[in-house]
Amino acid sequence: MKTNQSKKPLVGIIMGSQSDWPVLENAAKTLADFGIPYEARVISAHRTPHIAFEYASTAEKRGLCCIIAGAGMAAHLAGVMAGLTQLPVLGVPMESPQLKGLDSLLSTVQMPGGVPVATFAIGKAGAVNAALFAVSMLALNDEFLKKALSDFRVAQSKKVSDIKLES
Ligand code: RP5
Repeated sequence: MKTNQSKKPLVGIIMGSQSDWPVLENAAKTLADFGIPYEARVISAHRTPHIAFEYASTAEKRGLCCIIAGAGMAAHLAGVMAGLTQLPVLGVPMESPQLKGLDSLLSTVQMPGGVPVATFAIGKAGAVNAALFAVSMLALNDEFLKKALSDFRVAQSKKVSDIKLES
């Protein structure tokens, strides 16, 4: 796991365990494809709550625009972040071995009213989409990024429309 580029990170990617990295790495790769500087860290809401507190409460001051938080099982990391910062928190539920991520999904998505966590799909699709959502937010004030996102969408559509199935 590495911190991207020399520029100041705009997006924080955090995860409850190093075992989550193979999934969250897809968020990192997506941000890197758009040239968005990010930082990636393992921070657990229950194993290192003091670090979680420190991270969330300094995130905005350090220049982050949003936090992507991936966690599994009783996945409270995104909710804890959201309770400690006003930055948008994008939650990615990890697939857990026992309940296949349904536990993580419900823990992340079922925030009581007042402290939102934008929750994405379980696993890799959620990690990629959380990063693309971060790109969309950043593109609101960045014409270059807006064009890059539009090009990405066009290329994605073309990939699908170019598919030729045997008949
Ligand atoms: C959560 O518990 C982590 O986010 C991870 O998805 C899950 C299992 O963690 P490990 O036991 O693999 O460290 O806190």
